[in-house]
Amino acid sequence: MISDKIAGGIIGSPKIPGDKSISHRSIIIPSISNGICKVKNILKSDDVLHTLEAFKDMGVEIIQNKDEIIINGKGLNSLKKPKKDIYLGNSGTSARLLVGLLSAQKFNSTIIGDSSLSKRPMKRITDPLTKMNAIIKTFNGSLPIEIQGRHLASADIDITIPSAQIKSGLLLACINTEGISNITENNVTRDHTEIMLESFGAKIEISKKDNKKYIKIEGKNELKSKNINVPSDLSSSAFFIIATLINKNSKIILKNINNNPTRNGLLIALKKMGAKISILNKRYNNNEEVCDIEVLSSELNGCELEADMAALMIDEYPILSIAASFANSPSIFKGLNELRVKESDRLNLILKNLLNCGVECKIIDDSLYINPKKNYEIINNNIRTDFDHRIAMSFCVMGSKIGPLNILEAGSINTSFPTFKKEFNEVGGKIY
Ligand code: S3P
Repeated sequence: MISDKIAGGIIGSPKIPGDKSISHRSIIIPSISNGICKVKNILKSDDVLHTLEAFKDMGVEIIQNKDEIIINGKGLNSLKKPKKDIYLGNSGTSARLLVGLLSAQKFNSTIIGDSSLSKRPMKRITDPLTKMNAIIKTFNGSLPIEIQGRHLASADIDITIPSAQIKSGLLLACINTEGISNITENNVTRDHTEIMLESFGAKIEISKKDNKKYIKIEGKNELKSKNINVPSDLSSSAFFIIATLINKNSKIILKNINNNPTRNGLLIALKKMGAKISILNKRYNNNEEVCDIEVLSSELNGCELEADMAALMIDEYPILSIAASFANSPSIFKGLNELRVKESDRLNLILKNLLNCGVECKIIDDSLYINPKKNYEIINNNIRTDFDHRIAMSFCVMGSKIGPLNILEAGSINTSFPTFKKEFNEVGGKIY
C-alpha cells in the first residue's frame, strides 16, 4: 500500500468503527450472562470476529444482522466444549481474556493463534491463574495453550504488569469461581471489563488509592444481559486526529468517541503539546463516557511524558511519535517497555521506520527520544510493519506529510479498522 503526500488538508467527519476492546467484551460477557443482548456498532474486524467465532463454536446462539448482533446468553456455565481448537488469529485481547474464562469452565480447551500471537507472552495471565489452582499448559510461555477446565479457588492476586488483558482474564475466571477474590492493580489500566460486569449485575466492589486499584469480586452470581451500543474507538480515531493536526488547512469532527479516562491519555498528551482539540457533548452510554471531538491543524510543541501515562495510552505511541516528528521542539516518551510485546516489537519498529523517514530519534532504556526537523529526506521509503496494524496506519499518516511511503503487509489493518483506507481517502488522504 502506498501512502502519499497530500496537497490540501484533511477535512470531514470520518466514520470511526466501534471500540475494539469494548467489542470483544460485548461478545464475551453477554455470552455468559442470562438473556438477550442486542449489540449495536460492534467492530467487525478480524480480531473481533475471531472472538465471535469462538463463542459460536462453544454453542452460543449469535445472530449477525447488518446493523447489530444478537446474543442469546444462557448463563455462566452454559458454554459447550468446542469441537476444535479455538483459533484467535492476531488477537492478544481474545487470548488473554479467554484463557481466564476457559480455565474456570467445565471442559478442556486449546487456544491457538497466528504466528505473531503465538510469539506473545502468555505467562503473564497463566501464572496468576495458577494461584487459583488453574491447570494450563503453555508452549514455552506462549500459544498453543491447553486448558484443563475445572473449579478454581478464589484468591488474592496482585497484578504487577500494567495490563487490562491480565486483569480482565482474571476477572472472567473469578466470576465463575465460588467465594470472594481480591485483585489489586498496581497501575490503573482500561476498565471496560469492570464497567460491563458491574452493569450486568456482577457483585464487584472497586476502590482506588494513589495509583492502585482494588477490585473485590464475588463469583458464581449469574449475570443479567443488557443491550449495548458500542462507542467508536479512540485508538482508531487517533490516526485521523494526528493527520489533522500535522496537515495544514485541516478540520475534522469525530462523533460518538469513547472517552474513558483510563484510556484517553492521548488527548491529555496532545493538549499538552498545544493541539487544537475540543471535546464536545460529553455523555454516558452503557456507563462508558463518550463525546464528539473537533480537531484543527495545529502548531505542536514537543512534550515529555512520564511512565505513568503509558498504560493510559499504550496503543497510541506509534501515532503519537508521528505527531512528535512534526512538533517544534523535542519529545521524550518514558516507560514504553510494554510496547515491545504488542502485535510487533512496536518500540523497535517506531524507531527503525522513523529513522528511515529521516527523523532523528533514539531509544535509551525504555524511553523514546524524538528530535523533530522542519523538512525530512526519506532514507528508505519501505515501511516494515511486521503485520502490525497500528504501525501500518501510523505510517500512512506519516505518508500524508512526507510520502510516498510504501507500507508493507498493510493487510493487517483489517485487524482493527477494515474501512481505514476508504475513510482516510474520503477526508483527503492519498492511499493507493
Ligand atoms: C487491551 C489492552 C491493552 C491494549 C490492547 C487492548 C484490552 O493490552 O494494548 O490493544 O482490550 O484489554 P494490555 O492489557 O496487554 O496492555
